[in-house]
Amino acid sequence: MLMNKTYNIEGKKVDCLFNMELSAVLNRQTNKKTVLLVDENHYQLHQSKFSTFNIIIVPSGEKNKTQPCVDDIINQLLQLQINKDDFIIGVGGGVVTDITGYVASIYKRGISFGLVPTTVLSMVDAAIGGKNGINVGLHKNMVGTICQPEFILYDFSFLESLPDLEWINGFAEIIKHACILDKSLFTFLEHHDITSFKNDKALLKQLIIQNIEIKFGVVQSDVNEKGNRKLLNFGHSFGHAIENLHGISHGEAVSIGMVIASKLSEKYTGLSSISTLQIIELLKKYGLPITIETDGETLFNQLIADKKRTGDDIQFILLDNIGAAVIKNISIPALQLAYKEMAV
Ligand SMILES: NC(=O)c1ccc[n+]([C@@H]2O[C@H](COP(=O)([O-])OP(=O)(O)OC[C@H]3O[C@@H](n4cnc5c(N)ncnc54)[C@H](O)[C@@H]3O)[C@@H](O)[C@H]2O)c1
Repeated sequence: MLMNKTYNIEGKKVDCLFNMELSAVLNRQTNKKTVLLVDENHYQLHQSKFSTFNIIIVPSGEKNKTQPCVDDIINQLLQLQINKDDFIIGVGGGVVTDITGYVASIYKRGISFGLVPTTVLSMVDAAIGGKNGINVGLHKNMVGTICQPEFILYDFSFLESLPDLEWINGFAEIIKHACILDKSLFTFLEHHDITSFKNDKALLKQLIIQNIEIKFGVVQSDVNEKGNRKLLNFGHSFGHAIENLHGISHGEAVSIGMVIASKLSEKYTGLSSISTLQIIELLKKYGLPITIETDGETLFNQLIADKKRTGDDIQFILLDNIGAAVIKNISIPALQLAYKEMAV
C-alpha cells in the first residue's frame, strides 16, 4: 500500500493522500461545511461517488477557466452560506484544480481547500505547487495567485474513465519533467509507452509518484518562481500562445512548444541536434504532436504578449542537455529571427 506523504512548502503543510477515500478525509473535519467543485464530465462518469456531498458542478474545458465561471461559483458558495472557516475541494483536471485554488484564495479573502486531481496531467503537475489562475481573453493564466491546498488526494481509479487524448496530454508534462531535470526518467520513458502504463497499475503509480516528487522538489526550492520553478515553463511560452490561437489541448500545445524550445536550445545553449531528435521521437512515441500549421507572425505577437517578458527580452527555458534545463534571456528581434529560421 502506498504511504501518504506530507510536503512542506515554506511552512505550509500539503498532505498527499494515496490511500484514503474522500469521505474519510471529510470525516476529519466534521465541524466544517464542505463543498465539492466537480468537473462536469467527471461528475457524469462518477456520479455515485458524490451523492452524499454538497456539489457545485464546474463546466468542463479550458474555455470555462474564466472570470464568469469564477463569479458563478462564488455566487453558488454564497447561496450555500459557505463561510471563511468552511472548506472547498476541487475534483477534476487542471482546469478545475486551477479554478478551485483561485476561488479559494479570493473567496472571503481566503478559504481552506483540498484537491482531487482526476487526469494524469493534474496528478503529476497542475494540482501541485499552489499556482492557480484563470485566462483573460487570449492570455493564459493571466490572473491568479499562489496558494497551497491542505491536501491532494489521489484516487487512481478515476483514470480508468480518462479518454485516450487526456492520457496523451498528461505525458507531455511527464516528458517535460524528464527533459528539464531527469535524464534517467527520459530513458525510462523511452523504454515504455502509454499502453504499458495503462496496463500495469503499479508501474503507473510509480511513474506518477516519481513526477509528484519532481514537481514538489522544484516548488519547495522556489515557491514564488524567482529561480528554479521557472524551469517548469519549458515548452510553455510558445505552448501557451499555440494553445490559445489554435484551441488545442494544453499537453499538445506544450509538446509543440518543447520542440520549438529544443530547436532554440541548439542555437543558444548548444543542445545537440541528436538530443532534439530524441525528444521529438519520445513525444511522437507518446502520441503527441510535434508541429502545427500556424501563421508565424500572429503566433509571435501572441508570444510577446506573454507575461514572462522582461523589457525587450523574453525569458526562455532552454536545455543544455536532456535532463538539464537553463533560463536564458533572448531579445525579441533575435528570437523572431531564430524562429523564422526554424522549420517547425
Ligand atoms: N497550476 C499549475 O501549476 C498547472 C500546471 C499545468 C497545467 N495547468 C493547467 O491545467 C489545465 C489542463 O489540465 P487537464 O489536461 O487536466 O485539462 P482539463 O481539466 O480540461 O481536463 C481534460 C478533460 O478531461 C475531462 N476529465 C477530467 N477528469 C476525467 C476523468 N477522470 N474521466 C474522464 N474525463 C475526465 C475533463 O472534463 C476535460 O474534458 C490547463 O488549464 C493548464 O493551464 C496548471
